[in-house]
Amino acid sequence: NKNIGILAIEVYVPQLYVSQEKLEEFDSAGKGKYTIGLMQSKMSFCSEIEDINSISLTAVNQLMKKNGINYKDIGRLEVGTETVIDKSKSVKTTLMQLFDESGNHDIEGIDCINACYGGTAAFFNSVAWCESSAWDGRLALVVAADIAVYEKGPARPTGGAGAVAILIGPNAPIVLENSSGLRGSYFQNAYDFFKPNLDSEYPVVDGLLSIKCYFNALDNCYSKFRKNVENFSLSKIKDDPKEKDNANNPLQNTRKFTSDSIDYCVFHSPYNKLVLKSWARIHYLDFCYFPENLISEKNLDLQFLKKFLDLKLEDTYFNREIEDNFKKISHESYNKKVDPSTLISNNCGNLYCGSLYGGLASLIFNTNSKDLIGKRIVMFSYGSGLASSMFSLLVREDPTEIKKNLDIQNLLDQRIEILPNQFTDILEQRKNNYNKKDIKPKPLEIETLKSNVFYLKEIDSMGRRFYFQK
Ligand code: ACO
Repeated sequence: NKNIGILAIEVYVPQLYVSQEKLEEFDSAGKGKYTIGLMQSKMSFCSEIEDINSISLTAVNQLMKKNGINYKDIGRLEVGTETVIDKSKSVKTTLMQLFDESGNHDIEGIDCINACYGGTAAFFNSVAWCESSAWDGRLALVVAADIAVYEKGPARPTGGAGAVAILIGPNAPIVLENSSGLRGSYFQNAYDFFKPNLDSEYPVVDGLLSIKCYFNALDNCYSKFRKNVENFSLSKIKDDPKEKDNANNPLQNTRKFTSDSIDYCVFHSPYNKLVLKSWARIHYLDFCYFPENLISEKNLDLQFLKKFLDLKLEDTYFNREIEDNFKKISHESYNKKVDPSTLISNNCGNLYCGSLYGGLASLIFNTNSKDLIGKRIVMFSYGSGLASSMFSLLVREDPTEIKKNLDIQNLLDQRIEILPNQFTDILEQRKNNYNKKDIKPKPLEIETLKSNVFYLKEIDSMGRRFYFQK
C-alpha cells in the first residue's frame, strides 16, 4: 500500500465578484431569492482577459511555487473541465508551457470532459496511475477548473469561476480509499444540462430536471457506496475479528452504514441550498434503510415519519414535508459535518469541475488539522448528462502541510466587488467576443489582476492564444 492521495491543494478564483444581494435586487428577483433561496452570498466571474487556460496556468504555477515542487518531478497532468475553447487542443497542452524551462515533456494525461464530473475523472485516473504498473515514481497533477456562466434568467446567479490544482502522490496525508472499493457510481443518459451551441459559452439547462437528476444520482451513489462500505468492513472483520475495534475500519463497533458513519461530507455545489437539501436527503435515505433508528417505541413524536416509507424515491425529490422534516433532523450534523466545506462555493458560486475540490479545500482550511486525523471525508461528485460518484477520502496523517498553503480567506477578502450593471456589461462583452479572433485585452482590465496571475494577452488572427504572467 503506497497510500496514494493528496499532497497539496491550491485554489485560484478570479479577482472580480458580484454580490448576490445586489444582484437579486438588480434582477428584481425578490429580496432573499439568491441569498436565502439559493443560499449564495457572492459570485466570481472573469473579465475577457481570463479564460480556462489562464486560470489553470495560475493555479498550477502557484501550487508548484508554494509547495516547492520541481516541474521535473511531475509524471502526469490531467485536467477536468467543461469550459471548451478549442474543439481539439486540450487545456493540458497549454499548461505544458509551464514545464518548458525544466525540459520535462514526458508527462501523460489529458483533459477529461463531462459537465462538472471531469475533475473527479482526472482525480481517479491520476490516483490509479500512481497505483499501477505504469507508475514511474513521479507525482501527478490534477486540475479541476471551469468558468460557469449562464444567460440572463434564473440560472445566472448559479454561475461561478475558479481553478483547483491538486498534487497527487505516495505517502499522502489524505488518501483515496481506492483499492478497497469504497465508492459507488451512477451514470445515465440525461439531457438536464448540455452545451450543443458551440458558438456560445452558455449551456442549455433544464433546471428542474437537473435537480431531479442530481437527487437521483445521489440516491443511487449513496445506496451503492454504503453497500460497498458494509461489504468491505464485514469482509475485514471476517478475516480478522480484531478489525471490529479498529478505528480505521469504517464500521467500527457497528454493522450498519448511515450518515453517522460519515465524519465529513463534501458535495458538488451548484448552490448551497442544494447541498443542505442533499444532506437532509441522505438522512431520509438512512430512514428508508433503517426506520427503527428514528421511530423506536420511545420516540413517539417521530412516529408520523412512517408515512414516508411507502413512497417511491423518485416521487420524493420535491416533497416539501420530507425535505423540511429531514432538514430539521440533519440540522445539527450539517453544521458540523458539511458547512465547513461550503466556504468557497458560498463566496464564489459553482466552479463546476472545481466545485467539489474547492469544497475539500474549504473543509481543510476551516477545520483544525488535528481534528481531521483519522477521519473519513465522503465526497459526492455530480456532472450533468449524467456522471456521478460517491467516494471516501481518509485523513491518515496530520494535513497541516496542506492547510498551511491554503490562503483562502485572504483570497476571498482581497477581491474587487463589481456592481450588477457592470457585471452584466462584462458578461455581455464576453458573449459578443466569444469565438472572435484578433483580440487584445485592455490595459485597464489587467490592472484588476493580482501579481503573478496569468492572463490572456492576445488571440491572434488564427485563434492561437498567448498568455502573460502579471
Ligand atoms: N426569498 C427567499 N427564498 C426565495 C425567494 C425569496 N424572495 N424567492 C424564491 N425563493 C426560494 C424558492 O422557494 C426556492 O427554494 P426551495 O428550493 O427551498 O423551495 C429557491 O429560492 C429557488 O427558487 P425557484 O423558484 O425554485 O427556482 P429558480 O427558478 O430560481 O431556479 C435553479 C433555480 C433551477 C437552480 C436555476 O438557478 C438553475 O437552473 N440553475 C442552473 C442549473 C443547476 O445549477 N442545477 C443543479 C445541478 S446541475 C449543475 O451543477 C449545473
